Amino acid sequence: MIICIDGPAGAGKSSAARALARRLGFRFLDTGAMYRAVAHAALRRGLDWDEPAALARLARELSIEVGESQVLVDGEDVTREIRTLAVTTVTHYAANNSAVRQHLVELQRREAAGGNVVTEGRDQGTVVFPHAECKIFLTASPAERAHRRLIDLQRRGESTSYDQVLAEQTQRDQRDANRDVGPLRPAADAIELITDGLQPEEVVDRLEALVRARMA
Ligand code: C5P
Repeated sequence: MIICIDGPAGAGKSSAARALARRLGFRFLDTGAMYRAVAHAALRRGLDWDEPAALARLARELSIEVGESQVLVDGEDVTREIRTLAVTTVTHYAANNSAVRQHLVELQRREAAGGNVVTEGRDQGTVVFPHAECKIFLTASPAERAHRRLIDLQRRGESTSYDQVLAEQTQRDQRDANRDVGPLRPAADAIELITDGLQPEEVVDRLEALVRARMA
């Protein structure tokens, strides 16, 4: 069974999807981590962002392993680095590159093959797993999402402000929604869950109830 959780930045998809997978005994696939991993590797190598073919070549050469709680690139643990603002800011170069997307979509399908998986991203229900048994579009108001992200970033020692987080989030949402390949949008058969005012635990409860109803 494949459960897709798509939605905009800061909707709490990663933590909710991970907790849901744990409750169900499913594997968890964080696809945003893959786009981040490619951007991080390019940043490190000082790749020219104006050369999309070089970025695609790099993506194909890398060994990207996205585990339950660890992201390895060519065997190196980059779990923390890929979540920094510096990497977040350049990840759109990887996400908007159709050849990079094509490669990562294949990787995501291979990762999920034959298993029970909760997968999380922007295009999981629309492009990657159009026949998934359960699709959820997880969202919240821009203000609530920015507030949650601010707390998360501050906890990780990044110095930023609410206004900065909101501006970065708005730009990311626009880019994600307006790109030609794999844009952010709910699948026609997705259930929308708006998480404003819900505690993380309540979000997971709602998700679990939706999935169990689908399994019954
Ligand atoms: O979900 P997360 O914030 O880690 O994703 C980082 C970026 O990767 C997103 O802003 C989006 O541009 C891109 N992404 C994507 N398709 C996915 C998952 C993430 O384009 N399936």
